[in-house]
Amino acid sequence: MAARFGVDAVGRLLGDAAQAALGRAQRVPARRALLPHAGEPLATLVTLFLLGDAVPAAAAAAAFPALGLAGARKGGLVAQGEGGSVRATVDLRPYGFVDTVGVGEWWIASDLGELASGGALREDHVLGIGGASTTLSGLMMSEPVDAALDLGTGCGIQALHAARHARRVVATDISERALDIAAFNARLNGVESIEFRLGSLYEPVAGERFDHIVSNPPFVITPRAEGVPEYEYRDGGMVGDALVREVVRGAADHLVPGGVAQLLGNWEYHRDRDAFDRVREWLTGTRLDAWFLEREVQDAAQYAETWIRDGGTRPGPEFDRLYGAWLEDFDARGVESVGFGYVTLRAARENTARGAWPMRVLERVHGSLGHNASGLGEHIAASLAARDWLAGRSDAALAAASLTVAGDVTEERHYWPGQEHPTVIVLKQGGGFGRSVRLDTGLAALVGACDGDLSVGAIIAAVAQLLEVDPADLLADLLPRVRDLVADGFLRP
Ligand SMILES: C[S@@+](CC[C@H](N)C(=O)[O-])C[C@H]1O[C@@H](n2cnc3c(N)ncnc32)[C@H](O)[C@@H]1O
Repeated sequence: MAARFGVDAVGRLLGDAAQAALGRAQRVPARRALLPHAGEPLATLVTLFLLGDAVPAAAAAAAFPALGLAGARKGGLVAQGEGGSVRATVDLRPYGFVDTVGVGEWWIASDLGELASGGALREDHVLGIGGASTTLSGLMMSEPVDAALDLGTGCGIQALHAARHARRVVATDISERALDIAAFNARLNGVESIEFRLGSLYEPVAGERFDHIVSNPPFVITPRAEGVPEYEYRDGGMVGDALVREVVRGAADHLVPGGVAQLLGNWEYHRDRDAFDRVREWLTGTRLDAWFLEREVQDAAQYAETWIRDGGTRPGPEFDRLYGAWLEDFDARGVESVGFGYVTLRAARENTARGAWPMRVLERVHGSLGHNASGLGEHIAASLAARDWLAGRSDAALAAASLTVAGDVTEERHYWPGQEHPTVIVLKQGGGFGRSVRLDTGLAALVGACDGDLSVGAIIAAVAQLLEVDPADLLADLLPRVRDLVADGFLRP
């Protein structure tokens, strides 16, 4: 290509507002930003591949000086448009990222989206990098491992990320087109360690185990009704949240001991039934540690709107028809709302002497994340390690340990005007999941004294003296909360 078709160059050309508008499927600001650059190779590439607009053949030829227009056609990148113009046949865009290995940039091809098609997507649409993709890649743990599996690879983005820390990666999908595009992306970016396999769920890896499984599965709950599109890219063809259950349960048979699976999922809240009760049932009988972190809940109506709009259907009679089908399905099955979140599973290690096994953490952390998005994988790994450390420690051993406050932790104190003592003390996490914890005076004094020197027990004895309370009572009150602070990364062993 004649232009430096990279994240920075495209960002400079379009500007933030036009880029953000493209993210909302609006291309008018981008078209205006490109007007002064008409005919320049970079503007031509952006017009073709990001906006899905046609360009004059001469401009396209100038943008592919080495490949030539014929080469770009033969390679399946462009096709003849109306009146001798040229159109893109794929969405192709630079993608930049930061992970624990460092900074990187790839070109990622996928199907042209709603912008180019101008309407609802094809059912076999192969999705590009979306919000869920970057959420999962941001959560990905990256300790070096031998083998990783990306289940439902789509354009291959998670497999590419996994290939940065796994010696070999198997990427599966039910869509042959998705696998072709993912294989193209791997070749385009010089990654040779990914093997692509066709099939549903764990079928293509029957009998195999992996150190790391990642999956942004087709978790979207879709009514099984006549005339409701079943988008391959987001809908696994099962009823309700059954597909997420299958991915979760199947992980037990495909992880090596100590191996970790990370996925995104939806779970349904049925009338009078907490979603986490159902999730606990999914886990029954599996030798899996499980950590479900719910990030948001949408009521049935919000959920329907989100996913009908995501499929490229705009408000109008067809939108209303689909909306009705969604609500009908939710009503019939007693579903009132749907949770979305992150799932981390870990297969039991053989011969592990652990106090609390299997681990079951089912929690709701709604609201914004901390400020270090690229550190989430490390945060999850550290949290698993902290939970192992805690599981191996009795209360007496915890009291004998010395802890330090993590570097991203700050404390907020709120006072009634004129009062000497705070009415509210909150501990805040700057990174990770950006958690906040309310503290009372005793716990605040303990945290404040955790500098790695005195043991937890010694600090609690001193605080008890200051507060004039019984040391044994204070110990019994504070130790469970110290465990939570260690597990969540506020305090470090
Ligand atoms: C939400 S997309 C995720 C794509 C990509 N991994 C990402 O993170 O952007 C889900 C993918 O799962 C695939 N899929 C759908 N049903 C499947 C099944 N039963 N087994 C495996 N993959 C499936 C879809 O074709 C699609 O590529």
